[in-house]
Amino acid sequence: MTEQTSTQPTAKYRSDYRKPDYTITDIDLTFDLNDTKTQVTAQSKVVRMGDNADAKLVLDGDELELVSVTVNGEAWSAYAKEDGHLVLSDLPAEFDLTIVTMINPEANTALEGLYKSGGGFCTQCEAEGFRRITYYLDRPDVLARFTTKIIADKAAFPFLLSNGNRIAEGDLDNGRHWVQWQDPFPKPSYLFALVAGDFDVLRDNYTTMSGRNVELEIFVDKGNLDRADYAMTSLKNSMKWDEERFGLEYDLDIYMIVAVDFFNMGAMENKGLNVFNSKFVLANPKTATDSDYQGIEAVIGHEYFHNWTGNRVTCRDWFQLSLKEGLTVFRDQEFSSDLGSRPVNRIANVRIVRGPQFAEDRGPMSHPIRPEKVIEMNNFYTLTVYEKGSEVIRMMHTLLGEANFQAGMKLYFECHDGTAATCDDFVQAMENASGIDLSRFRRWYSQAGTPVVAVETAYDADNKSYSVTVKQQTPPTAGQEEKLPLHIPFDIELYDSKGEVIALQSNGKPVHNVLDVKEEEQTFVFENVAEQPVISMLREFSAPVILEYDYSDQELIFLMIHARNEFARWDAGQMLLAKYIRKNVAVVQAGNAVELPEAVVDAFRGALLDENLDPAFIAEMLTLPSENEIAGWYKQVDVDAINAVVGALTQILATDMEDELLAIYRSLAQGEYSLDHAAMAKRALRNKCLSYLAHTATGNDLVTAQYAAADNMTDTMAAMSAANNAQLPCREAQMADFSDKWTHDGLVMDKWFMLQGTNPAENALENVRNTMNHPAFSLKNPNRTRSLVASFCANNPARFHAKDGSGYAFLTEILTALNTSNPQVASRLIEPFLKYRQYDEARQQLMRSELEKLSVLDNLAKDLFEKVQKALEQ
Ligand code: TRP
Ligand code: ZN
Repeated sequence: MTEQTSTQPTAKYRSDYRKPDYTITDIDLTFDLNDTKTQVTAQSKVVRMGDNADAKLVLDGDELELVSVTVNGEAWSAYAKEDGHLVLSDLPAEFDLTIVTMINPEANTALEGLYKSGGGFCTQCEAEGFRRITYYLDRPDVLARFTTKIIADKAAFPFLLSNGNRIAEGDLDNGRHWVQWQDPFPKPSYLFALVAGDFDVLRDNYTTMSGRNVELEIFVDKGNLDRADYAMTSLKNSMKWDEERFGLEYDLDIYMIVAVDFFNMGAMENKGLNVFNSKFVLANPKTATDSDYQGIEAVIGHEYFHNWTGNRVTCRDWFQLSLKEGLTVFRDQEFSSDLGSRPVNRIANVRIVRGPQFAEDRGPMSHPIRPEKVIEMNNFYTLTVYEKGSEVIRMMHTLLGEANFQAGMKLYFECHDGTAATCDDFVQAMENASGIDLSRFRRWYSQAGTPVVAVETAYDADNKSYSVTVKQQTPPTAGQEEKLPLHIPFDIELYDSKGEVIALQSNGKPVHNVLDVKEEEQTFVFENVAEQPVISMLREFSAPVILEYDYSDQELIFLMIHARNEFARWDAGQMLLAKYIRKNVAVVQAGNAVELPEAVVDAFRGALLDENLDPAFIAEMLTLPSENEIAGWYKQVDVDAINAVVGALTQILATDMEDELLAIYRSLAQGEYSLDHAAMAKRALRNKCLSYLAHTATGNDLVTAQYAAADNMTDTMAAMSAANNAQLPCREAQMADFSDKWTHDGLVMDKWFMLQGTNPAENALENVRNTMNHPAFSLKNPNRTRSLVASFCANNPARFHAKDGSGYAFLTEILTALNTSNPQVASRLIEPFLKYRQYDEARQQLMRSELEKLSVLDNLAKDLFEKVQKALEQ
């Protein structure tokens, strides 16, 4: 089932890339589906590429039973089975290769390759799962035309799906039937997909900008048809948006999406046949929250946008993953921003980069967005490749502007459509189309770590000039000591005391507000600055860096009110909070009580009461940074002090603003439930108010009333989270009621599991262990595992890091189980251990000894091996 590692797994290096000796132009697959013995026949047209007539054909294969090998119709014996490979020799320059393998989908708990989810069959081939189906050149630079015939029992599996168009079908006499599919677009094996099962289907259609009709089909488990509408709406919105903003049209006559319950990640962009984690398809107001809806829109968009950025132009090798992922995340973020609130989306994305992505940069797995060395590719579907990758694309967008950026996209498709490209090909297209020099900018692709940008300013009243000195420096990261200066787009604005913008000028000429920071140290001098200005910097988070500047409280409060864009106002609020969180962590460590000046509370009160602001934006203003994000500010983390400070600040804000919070809470009560953005925004602020009010005397009554009255999951969950976080007396009854109502529905129960995982109660771990016996829980299902176990280990730091090491022992137990059943999920769960060096000596020792236990596990999977080894050697 999992990789047998009698020998140590070996690493691959980006610099070792070589073109393949052979390619496969066409592959004709036949699947005879059976739960435990599925026979796969793969007939390929193979062509030698180089001029080495002795070149062997080295096919990848994993967990396969080889039945037969035929070359040009004759049984072939010139082959050797090596570890993970089938090596064929004495081959002609061009030939037909037929390989028959037998696989066991039911035993496939890793959910990679062909596996069973619920009653149906499905596949997951990215990154290297196709080799668990047949021996093949399982690398993204081999592009073949696929034909797929699926044979299965007709009653159990009425729907037999694969990529492209359905070209033939028929019945067999033993109650079985078959369907054949043909995908006209050559593609790498990682984009192959097969699904077989019984579903309800939501059908619709879309007319493209050139007037072609596309059939749209969403396949869901029987009985879930009433939860597929929003996914369909999002799909049609995605298709339209990509035409309008990027000029890109869909290219097949059919687009299918299948929702499955057992899935390792969010979703997969297989050509014409996306497979989705059901979490990102299924929603109705009774089962899904507003943030679930937003997630569906983003992920449907993301996978759809891959059709051009990923499928039409794919990656030459897996080191280039950010070519498709960074770019596609950028596109899905722009989609959500164009359809909804741009500032609120930007804030959410920046929180992810500043929190978990910066944390990744500091840890032992730190890597550039284009990694240099990989042991297990699945370990590199990271926040760095995806989210920082998107920030790198966004910086190019900032430097070039929309028109030049779109010209670059156009050129990129002209040069690389239908091929497997590199990150450098993309940057080259942007450079060629815009004429803007991106040579130093390219370092973002090779350099890991988070740059620190320290700024000093000086106002010269005599000369009416203002100077801004910017120093950049990137601290060393695991395996990369030396760092070079980067090209940083540094977006600034200056304000006078009335809050008016001061035009930027130097040497008598206007200066663009995005400064090109390229050197280790640079000074920018602005003229005609009539008075000491207030500077707003790194506007829109114009680069993924840490900004250091000594702002006064007054300046931050000024920016919270006067900065022209909402993101900058939010960011000023976050900087103000950060100052007082740091201050109070020291206060708590000295044994004193947390304090917050009245002026600071008033600044947040001002935001709360500002009627010109979008309520969803106000909710963001009032959101404290997470304990994990705060932990990232410290060389040595004091989990307990951070937890105490966040709790105390929440309490102070709640108490001091109680009247205003209550008034806003009441004023935002809604009649008819609606999913439009304005209604969602009001719920967001109303429920943010409730989360604070839960910490006041009326909290229990308000939360109880909201839970009882709620006609939608957003309000239900807001009540339950408030009760959970504030440990209200009403919590227990609500939890029992919810579990009674939803035990049959794992996806809905995930919300409940998440509350158990993040329960602040002293005995949270004991509850989590008990909850693992809940009938809706299963460690075999990645969503369940994440909602309960990962939420405890990753998002309940005060309890996970309990001094007695009980949280650590628990994680090791879980990892040991998952190492054999699903190493990909295990590898994501282990993350909290990788940060052990950031804790005190006692906790470090405890975590380190858990890592050591893991390192000597029998059959340690490559996924965990790579992380454990890096963590221990760091
Ligand atoms: N390419 C997918 C996406 O970002 C993600 C993906 C990679 C994936 N590997 C996977 C999904 C394994 C599921 C399982 O859209
Ligand atoms: Zn993707």
